[in-house]
Amino acid sequence: MSTTFQLDTSTSRANPTPQPMKRLTVPKIRARKADGETEEPLVMLTAYTARQAQLLDPHCDLLLVGDSLGQVIYGLPSTIPVTMEMMANHAAAVVRGSYHSVVVVDMPFGSYEASPEHAFESAARLLKESGAAAVKLEGGEAMAETVAFLVKRGIPVMGHVGLTPQAVNVLGGYGARGRSDTEAEKIVGDAKALDEAGAFAIVVEGVIEPIAIAVTQAVSCPTIGIGASPRCDGQVLVTDDMLGMFERVPRFVKKYEDVATTISETAARYAAEVRDRSFPGPDQLYQPK
Ligand code: KIV
Repeated sequence: MSTTFQLDTSTSRANPTPQPMKRLTVPKIRARKADGETEEPLVMLTAYTARQAQLLDPHCDLLLVGDSLGQVIYGLPSTIPVTMEMMANHAAAVVRGSYHSVVVVDMPFGSYEASPEHAFESAARLLKESGAAAVKLEGGEAMAETVAFLVKRGIPVMGHVGLTPQAVNVLGGYGARGRSDTEAEKIVGDAKALDEAGAFAIVVEGVIEPIAIAVTQAVSCPTIGIGASPRCDGQVLVTDDMLGMFERVPRFVKKYEDVATTISETAARYAAEVRDRSFPGPDQLYQPK
């Protein structure tokens, strides 16, 4: 996809003006897995802001406005305190900054578990306020009825099984799941229940590799792995982890860059130039005509 840039005179920022093109759709993503096979793996990254979305969009099939924004953007200790307002506002920004990927928004903790009706109200609000195409929710069999309820009423749902961070207080931590036979069977059963309920894709997070493969083989919809297996039908990472914004990241993260060091060193250079009065220089100053 080629993108040109246009100066926005009201903000003086350069906004991309994409070539006319159609955004991918949920049915197209679902159809990437046919007869149990996915030829080209699905690419998903998290995005929380319009500019981040502009940069990631051409390279992705899906952008996930993850509730990981609680920790990544807001410095919260977990995803539990994340609100509907946060999710709707960041999802709207990501939709504004993207033209190609399907935008999926996480349903925050407490917005969907009580009943299918409550889940519908929350999901409808997120889609109406943001323009995102689909929601993601955590949990397996216990959420299957809710997933079916939403799908029948026009809301595409991505499931999420294995390590489900909103359940950290029940799980007792963020360790890999599926090490015991009982837990492994439950994860496969959870994924099957979501698939049968009509989920268009399922995130499989933090499970031992044989379970990720078993889940991928057991369901008809695509699986998207994170800390799972390259044999999943797609992969997702938290973008800020991938960019190296944090010193400590889970074992399954590959840091493709060290952006934290770049930011820190750039800030140090700026601070030094302000202090020795070499910034601003002649190129940054206005003079009388
Ligand atoms: O919130 C999030 O970013 C997620 C991904 C890690 C899958 O759920």
